[in-house]
Amino acid sequence: MARCVARELVEGSGIDAGRLVDLLVERAMAEVGNYYYYTLLRLHLVGVEGDALRRVIDDAREEDRNHYEVLVPRIFELGGSLPAVLGGSGGLAALQDLPAEADVPDILPVLLKSAEESVRAYTHLCALTSGKDHRTYNLVLAILHEEIAHQVWFLEFLGRGLAEPRSYHQRAISPFVTPFLQSPRVAGLKTPAYPA
Ligand SMILES: [Fe+2]
Repeated sequence: MARCVARELVEGSGIDAGRLVDLLVERAMAEVGNYYYYTLLRLHLVGVEGDALRRVIDDAREEDRNHYEVLVPRIFELGGSLPAVLGGSGGLAALQDLPAEADVPDILPVLLKSAEESVRAYTHLCALTSGKDHRTYNLVLAILHEEIAHQVWFLEFLGRGLAEPRSYHQRAISPFVTPFLQSPRVAGLKTPAYPA
């Protein structure tokens, strides 16, 4: 492998860089898998309740795509790479074969479980990198904030029936992760402002 200064610095801080890259790749694959499954799910949601959940899923789907897009550059900065074939075993892909004809009461626990898994994974990554790999830490912390929001949206949806989750209305897409996005496609987004 060619010399990689970012990786050397991370290893010098006491982190197993190979293990860190593996975890970041795992999360990147889970994020893109979530995007894929959310896309399928939204097509099958029907009725008033399905419409309301679809709006929540659309935002979670956009944010998971953004999470994938910000993880990939860091993986390459650390000398890693992505698998040539999209397999992925984390996120929604890990949970079950999702029903083709989705039904809101059946889907919500699946979505909630996936959000909880993400919160656990990013909390672990924060603990692993805190005070050592500042760039990865800032990145995974920003993603963690948004994963917790997804968890809250699904919990609120479970508790409020047809009503849309309150916190869902209170913010734009990816307020924490947008400053890390490199794609020009996001230049027109209304959000930014990474909280100090
Ligand atoms: Fe995500």
